[in-house]
Amino acid sequence: MRKKMVVGNWKMHGNLLENKQLLDAVISSLDGLHEDLIAVCVPYLYLPSVQNQLQSSSIAWGAQNVSQYEKGAYTGEVSASMLSDFRCQYVIVGHSERRMLFGENNNVVAEKFVAAQNAGIIPILCVGETLEQREAYNTEQVIEQQLKSVINLAGIESLNKAVIAYEPVWAIGTGITASPEQAQDVHTFIREGLAKQNSNVANQVIILYGGSVKGSNASELFAMPDIDGGLIGGASLIANDFITICRALR
Ligand code: G3H
Repeated sequence: MRKKMVVGNWKMHGNLLENKQLLDAVISSLDGLHEDLIAVCVPYLYLPSVQNQLQSSSIAWGAQNVSQYEKGAYTGEVSASMLSDFRCQYVIVGHSERRMLFGENNNVVAEKFVAAQNAGIIPILCVGETLEQREAYNTEQVIEQQLKSVINLAGIESLNKAVIAYEPVWAIGTGITASPEQAQDVHTFIREGLAKQNSNVANQVIILYGGSVKGSNASELFAMPDIDGGLIGGASLIANDFITICRALR
C-alpha cells in the first residue's frame, strides 16, 4: 500500500515571521494527527529556521533545487551534502519553472536527481507538458522523455527512493486545475510505463499531482486511484488551505 503525501512548495515567498506563523498553524493542526507524509520545500535561506521549528514534529522539510555538482567553483550553487547538513529529506528537481526560466534540460535534471540520492535525499522529480505540447497531443511523449533521462542515468530502481510529481505546466499558478480524470490519465500512463520496466517500482512509487490544487478541489483529485497526493504551490502559503489539502488525503 503506497503512502499518501502532500508537499508544499513555497517557491520564492515568505519571510522569517510569516514562515513561523504558517508553520505554527500547520504544526498545531497536523502534527502527529496524520499517517501521511507531509513536507514543505522552502527557500534555501530558511532551511535552518524551518529545521529548528519542524525537527520535533512529524512534518518534513526540503529544498526546491540542488546543484548537480558535488562541490567546487560553482558560484551561487548549493550542493546536496549542504542540504543534508540541514537534514533535508526531500528536494524538488526539474520543476517546470527551473526548466523554463533557468534552462534546466532533462540531462541536468537527471544529474540533480542523482546528486540528491547520493546524499541520501529523496528527489521529487517534476514532469509535465506545456499547453502547446498538450494541444499537439505530445503529452505522453514529453513525459516519457523526462522520465527516460532519469532512468537512463540512475536506473529504474532509483525510483524506489524518489517521488514523481506530474505538473501540467498550463495548470501551475493559473487557477486552471487538470480535471481529476485528466490527471488520472497521465498518472496511469506514468505508472503503466514504469510497470513495463519494473512492476514493483511502478506499484510503490508515489506520484503526486501539482497545478492549482486548493482546499476546494483536493479531495476529488486525491480520490483518483493513481494520484497519491499533491505538490502544492500557492495554496501551501495559506495555512487553512494547506491544512484542508492535507486532510483531503483521507
Ligand atoms: O510546485 C508546485 C506547483 O508549481 C503548483 O503550483 O499550486 O501554485 O499551481 P500552484
